[in-house]
Amino acid sequence: MIPLDDTPRVHVRAPGKINLFLEVGQVMDDGYHELATAFQAVSLYEDVWASESDDFTVAVHGAVDTSGVPLDERNLALRAAQLVARATEQSGGVHLEIRKGVPVAGGMGGGSADAAAAIVACDALWGTGLSTSQMHAIAARLGADVPFALQGGTAVGTGRGDELSPALARGRFEWVFVADAGGLSTPQVYTELDRHRERHRVDIAPAVRHPLVDPDVLHALRAGDPVRLAAVLRNDLQVAALNLRPELADLLELGERAGALAGIVSGSGPTVAFLCADSAAALDVRVALSATGHEALHAHGPVPGARVIPG
Ligand code: C5P
Repeated sequence: MIPLDDTPRVHVRAPGKINLFLEVGQVMDDGYHELATAFQAVSLYEDVWASESDDFTVAVHGAVDTSGVPLDERNLALRAAQLVARATEQSGGVHLEIRKGVPVAGGMGGGSADAAAAIVACDALWGTGLSTSQMHAIAARLGADVPFALQGGTAVGTGRGDELSPALARGRFEWVFVADAGGLSTPQVYTELDRHRERHRVDIAPAVRHPLVDPDVLHALRAGDPVRLAAVLRNDLQVAALNLRPELADLLELGERAGALAGIVSGSGPTVAFLCADSAAALDVRVALSATGHEALHAHGPVPGARVIPG
């Protein structure tokens, strides 16, 4: 983006994410479910440009359909900017311009990436010098996935998903994403999971008390082994997303038949992620899915979290 005038702008880029593993436990006192998840940041990005303004405004455009993105007080990036202003006693406002590359309401944390990028951008624009832990605290107030979008890489998340510890991952994992099924609401998907568990109470085990990431996931990441990782991918929200969008089951099968090692619903969906053996295999899967009328995106992980792009 080339600025139209001389107004100084800060450019920050933040990644989307995939949950490689997501075990959903019981509902906690705050209404959130206790989680154990393994996140990986992937190379689909949200770009945010911040410039000084009298009030707080946002404009959104992008490579993906942005029609579902609110431009009012519900916009997570705007709320992030307002929280930073309040925390740092900033008197002015900010104009945020967002270019979205992460599918909207797809379960890939695009809104969370916007919020993380806005925190970093406002801090840089206003020179407020927030520490990493201050940024993390602001991020956690905005949503369970926002701290991870700040941190990036590969990490284990517990609690609501916002208590992070970095996980070691060797090499690069190749992914193909299909996001063309329209958005799903995250609270709706969690509610559907609770209902599903209630409906099937007699034949499925109750939600675990303390969810835990399968150690095999961490071993596969450390070994940089996509075949091993594919065998242990798991998302408890998948069954709920499939109940709400039964056609996703066909899509998962299509990608696996096209040569993906495994397919999984991303977060609360409906974006579907396919893990591939290498970049050539990912290209084949992308072409095969595109040939059946799906818009497929090739990306890799892990990539860094929200950071200022110089220049
Ligand atoms: O934190 P975030 O705004 O992304 O969460 C959206 C919704 O997803 C929450 O309001 C809640 O309904 C559900 N959620 C949950 N447990 C979590 C994370 C999200 O129930 N750990």
